[in-house]
Amino acid sequence: MCGIVGAVAQRNVQNILLEGLRRLEYRGYDSAGMAVLASAGLQRCRALGKVAALEQRLVAEPLPGHCGIAHTRWATHGKPSEANAHPHASGDRLAVVHNGIIENHEVLRHELQDAGYVFVSQTDTEVVAHLLEREYRLGDGLLASVQRVLKRLEGAYALAVVHADEPDVIVGARKGSPLVVGVGIDEAFLGSDPLALLQVTDRFIYLQEGDVVRLSEGGHVEVVDEAGRPAAREIQTFEHADGAASKGDYRHFMQKEIFEQPSVIAAALEGRLGDKSVLVESFGPGAEALFARVRQIHIVACGTSYHAGMVARYWLERYAGIPAQVEGASEYRYRTVVVPEGTLFVTLSQSGETADTLAALRFAREQGYLGSLAICNVPGSSLVRESDLTLMTQAGPEIGVASTKAFTTQLTGLMLLTLALGRIKGLSSDLQAELVAGLRGLPRLVSQVLKLDGEIETLSMAFAEKNHALFLGRGVHFPIALEGALKLKEISYIHAEAYPAGELKHGPLALVDSEMPVISVAPNDELLDKLKSNLQEVRARGGELFVFADEAVGLEEEEGMRVLRLPHVHDALAPILYTIPLQLLSYHVAVLKGTDVDQPRNLAKSVTVE
Ligand code: AGP
Repeated sequence: MCGIVGAVAQRNVQNILLEGLRRLEYRGYDSAGMAVLASAGLQRCRALGKVAALEQRLVAEPLPGHCGIAHTRWATHGKPSEANAHPHASGDRLAVVHNGIIENHEVLRHELQDAGYVFVSQTDTEVVAHLLEREYRLGDGLLASVQRVLKRLEGAYALAVVHADEPDVIVGARKGSPLVVGVGIDEAFLGSDPLALLQVTDRFIYLQEGDVVRLSEGGHVEVVDEAGRPAAREIQTFEHADGAASKGDYRHFMQKEIFEQPSVIAAALEGRLGDKSVLVESFGPGAEALFARVRQIHIVACGTSYHAGMVARYWLERYAGIPAQVEGASEYRYRTVVVPEGTLFVTLSQSGETADTLAALRFAREQGYLGSLAICNVPGSSLVRESDLTLMTQAGPEIGVASTKAFTTQLTGLMLLTLALGRIKGLSSDLQAELVAGLRGLPRLVSQVLKLDGEIETLSMAFAEKNHALFLGRGVHFPIALEGALKLKEISYIHAEAYPAGELKHGPLALVDSEMPVISVAPNDELLDKLKSNLQEVRARGGELFVFADEAVGLEEEEGMRVLRLPHVHDALAPILYTIPLQLLSYHVAVLKGTDVDQPRNLAKSVTVE
């Protein structure tokens, strides 16, 4: 998704902006651009494609200056092109960058065209530039102009604006799209994500919905709220080390993030486990009282986070005895929802800024839920700020678009939730102690599974020439099969589907032949025998099987069936462990196919538009 960087400093900001854009590359984008206020006035440079293409242009024609804004664009209105790339200008003195969507842009475009403005792009953003140009003529400055324009805009946005008449000022605004202020020493910065600014500061102001901010020379930061009142906003120190934003010795961020899982799962557990039970207060001060009143749970999330929610449904019903319902946020927010008394609303999100999940939370607030809990990876994100209770997943920044460590730490957090609720709802202390011990041993088991990397790399060769793949799982492992299929399609562009293994003979079996690899996870649980029969159904139709199985299940390799053995793990925790080989498989297939592993085509890391 789009990214914003801005800087007002006492030094040349070109390279700060460029580095900020590089750090936002992981979000997915198709063009990049920059506008700087230089002695010669407003100067702009834009390029289709990667930030490196913009950089090349800047080598030829640098944009030195002390104040500027920059952007990576992920096309929504108008194809990826230089003309549609941000910053957009009106005249030769004003430029704007924008994340989000201006929903009433067509009406505004007609109004502005009637007033004589000529549009040179197909974007919704250009209306903002022209509206601002018109308001600025009233002569009361950039901040007041932005405030008036915002009243005309419908939709979601984060904006940053510069005007050559105020050469040391940036005005930013947020509504529905994240925007942070980076606080430096006599310098100030803007970013749609703190990661963009970690090279210059680790101190941030997380703007609130409706806030408008004016950054000016000397590091002055002035925030006004939606009603136009001056607002004091706390400065927070960013917790993660900047090293998280570099690949280190790994070839890709995704690979690094897969291998970080033992340590981030340990971090997700740290301070949250007692001797033999989960510390309920890990969910916040009011958690114990609120959890005692929970009778049902509604979980809402998107993509990989949605798959984590599907796993949690099995856990919550089995171990805490609480009925749970899971739904994709984009569907949930647009239907009539019946909320039984005592229902807890749970959102799951890596970024905490996914537009549909955030809108679902805001919608849920009006529906009479008992309260809301966000399980999230990004401190200070909108979801975290707007939920009653939060559990941070502690995965550290996840840069690869394909979610890996965010998923397994979400699952870890969801098992903590299951045990916290189970403890209150009467789960036996023996089983609590058994699962707590299992959680403690999980990082070690994940490390063991990561040692299968070489074997999985070899296995991946069987997929490089394939166009389709089928993933099978049963019970709590059906969502793991879904997640495996999502990973494979996201980064290798191989069409992949997942089915509960028992559904195979109700239709998908028709697809099985020697060209259809079938991947299955086979932990040693109560559904193992059923799964083995399903695998035989595949073998009998000539399907090529790849099975990740518990070392004790006695599945032997035979022609057409490769078996990779995983260490034994407690049933309940198997979904976390069996995710790892599927991540590695997708990763190696994508590397073999030569795709852009960390920034797969058409996708964005944080989906901040609907
Ligand atoms: C996962 O690999 C995807 N990148 C995507 O499905 C992601 O999980 C989804 O967009 C939700 O994001 P969130 O967890 O940040 O809300």
